[in-house]
Amino acid sequence: MKNFEFRNPTKIIFGRGVEEKVGDEVGACSQKILLHFGGGSIKASGLYDRVTASLRQAGITWVELGGVKPNPRLNLVYEGIKLCKENNLGMILAVGGGSVIDSAKAIAMGSVIEGDVWDFYLGKGVPVNALPIGTILTIPAAGSEASTGTVITNEDGWLKRAVNSELIYPRFSILNPELAFSLPRFQVACGVADIMAHLMERYFTNVSHVAFTDRLIEATLKTLISLAPLVMKNPQDYDAWSELMWAGTIAHNNILDTGRVGDWASHDIEHEISGIYDVAHGAGLAVVFPAWMKYVLHHDLNRFVQWSVRVWNVEMDVFDPEAVALAGIEKMEGFFRSIGLGTQLADLGIQDDRIDEMADKCTGGNTRTVGNFVKLDREAVRKILLLAK
Ligand code: NZQ
Ligand code: ZN
Repeated sequence: MKNFEFRNPTKIIFGRGVEEKVGDEVGACSQKILLHFGGGSIKASGLYDRVTASLRQAGITWVELGGVKPNPRLNLVYEGIKLCKENNLGMILAVGGGSVIDSAKAIAMGSVIEGDVWDFYLGKGVPVNALPIGTILTIPAAGSEASTGTVITNEDGWLKRAVNSELIYPRFSILNPELAFSLPRFQVACGVADIMAHLMERYFTNVSHVAFTDRLIEATLKTLISLAPLVMKNPQDYDAWSELMWAGTIAHNNILDTGRVGDWASHDIEHEISGIYDVAHGAGLAVVFPAWMKYVLHHDLNRFVQWSVRVWNVEMDVFDPEAVALAGIEKMEGFFRSIGLGTQLADLGIQDDRIDEMADKCTGGNTRTVGNFVKLDREAVRKILLLAK
């Protein structure tokens, strides 16, 4: 196990009706805020009315910026920064999914500097300050509600890039599982795939003596595998949603990678797919992960065997460990298909051949590798994308 420091300062407020508390939580940070949201689901569900009533009651004033698209865009981030600066706003409240929260985090970093926030996403400099943000989560998926990450797409070049900084941990995140009831099935499936991916990115590590966190990750994966069909069958199953939503936060709030080093190549590769084709992140991961696994399998066959046996209940066969590992991957693909996701690029409607371009962008023209479990150069990424075709 590696040395580590762990701190997650995000206050989680969880349960039925807890969004009613948002006014008081915001009031502890600022009296004048940016209210940031997506394309309309919060108005259709009535959440917008409840949130604004609570803000009003707490004496909070706000400026609104809706219209965040999935795979959130840099142009809207610039609009948000302008609004925050012009109106001297002291906080951003993000009401929505990972895209809204990530956009809010970008605005938070950009509102306190003179320069261009995109530079942080290009790795030119690191943020030293940010406005506080709070969130009301409407979809268990990205884990941004308690993560250090923000992922933004620049339409100029269709580059999708991430920043990680402790400065953008939300001050609070409000999680009411009832808010997930209105999710379309496809978004539920994408969310589940993303949460599973966050767990597996952490699971496949070269660090030894991490049996405790192995077990925690396996338990979280098994929980998701058993709960996903329940919420698919009954979208109003509060009990199942509660566990699923909390699992989504735990999967990405960094507790599960304490003492270990995660991989993250599949995320980097997927960001090239959703950056160019604007597909849902979770749907892209359901395609990339199986291909990545098949490519890196022999790097540590024992770890794959452990994952297959413990997570997917594959029967152990000491004489044929490769078959055990492959059976686990096959079960995972079957699970993704059972919740309505594809496992090949063609299933995402991607028929053209921009694999070389994606491999090139992902590795900065072969100037860097991606992943830690196995370091992948441009040719390796290209081969993985070909396996996903
Ligand atoms: O825009 P609205 O109308 O709200 O509709 C959204 C959107 O179309 C809809 N939706 C959300 N909650 C709903 C709902 N519809 C009905 N009822 C509800 N309760 O769902 C659609 C997808 O929303 P989005 O926010 O894009 O989903 P998600 O949470 O999966 O976020 C994806 C983004 O997060 C990034 C991804 O790359 C992607 O850009 N990620 C962020 C991470 C982080 N910051 O730590 C880590 C992740 O690995 C990921 O990369
Ligand atoms: Zn993800």
